[in-house]
Amino acid sequence: MDRPRVAFVGPGTVGSALAVALSRAGYPVVAIAGRSPASVRALADRIAGAEALDRPQGAVDAADLVFVTVPDDAIRSVVEGLTWRTGSSAVHCSGAASIDLLDAAAAQGADVGSFHPLQTFASAEPAIEKLAGSRFAIEASDVALEARLTEMARAVGGRAITLRGSKGLYHASAVLASNALVTLLDAAASLWEDLGLTKAEGLNALLPLVRGTVSNLEATGLPRALTGPVARGDVGTIDRNLSALREHAPETAALYVELARRTIPIAEAKGSLSPEAAAVLRKRLEEASQDG
Ligand SMILES: NC(=O)c1ccc[n+]([C@@H]2O[C@H](COP(=O)([O-])OP(=O)(O)OC[C@H]3O[C@@H](n4cnc5c(N)ncnc54)[C@H](OP(=O)(O)O)[C@@H]3O)[C@@H](O)[C@H]2O)c1
Repeated sequence: MDRPRVAFVGPGTVGSALAVALSRAGYPVVAIAGRSPASVRALADRIAGAEALDRPQGAVDAADLVFVTVPDDAIRSVVEGLTWRTGSSAVHCSGAASIDLLDAAAAQGADVGSFHPLQTFASAEPAIEKLAGSRFAIEASDVALEARLTEMARAVGGRAITLRGSKGLYHASAVLASNALVTLLDAAASLWEDLGLTKAEGLNALLPLVRGTVSNLEATGLPRALTGPVARGDVGTIDRNLSALREHAPETAALYVELARRTIPIAEAKGSLSPEAAAVLRKRLEEASQDG
């Protein structure tokens, strides 16, 4: 497949990581443009053949495919401010927004797509390495662009997933798997402050457990990776957990009950919790939620 000339508008975390990774994979990254000249220059300096441009229009004119890697809320207005041509492609990297953010480019004849790395990036340098092994959710207005984006995902060491359903649903799944895990660990690590240790020490102690859980999920999948008191139908342990939470962290007790409720069908699917034990647990958790 021929490799399109690629440009980036928005040399932030994702734009920088993708530009470097695609260039390393042999794609001609021809132009970088953005808001702050220093970030544009810093990224262009890392990529042989890339020109640092002060006007995004120059990037659109120089490339076959333009990644608009600005924050989600700025994508529509940035794209509307540019002139697009038939045969070029405009692509954003948002996980939550659909390709309709690029309507202005489509109206002028460009193909439009989205290319979302299903990964969490705090800064560009580690992001370059994290792209490899990630899934990339792809939407495209036409099959040729879909094939191009699929090939790009493969070239940076990732794997493409073509989405057919709601992008909002897809992103909600990502938020639950990534951001909610952070929230959960915040709640779990905070409990260690009542155990004579700091929250940071609690987090450090919990991380090997998290890694073990992820490794079980990788090895056996759902529902088999589930362990713990709900999987065993151990009502006594759940009672002990709940009374300790009520005493030391009442704000976390309701979260525990809700998660335990959601765990029951997983345990049933695993086959480790009988329907009778599940009924006892449901009743106990219902009482606990009424007790507050
Ligand atoms: N970070 C993640 O974990 C992650 C993961 C997957 C997908 N994404 C998606 O990737 C895209 C970029 O996110 P990011 O995390 O890379 O953001 P970011 O690090 O904040 O970078 C955004 C870039 O866009 C530029 N910019 C901001 N507003 C602009 C405007 N109005 N006009 C022109 N340029 C503008 C910024 O310039 P300045 O430097 O001058 O501010 C910066 O270069 C988003 O669609 C996001 O949803 C992010």
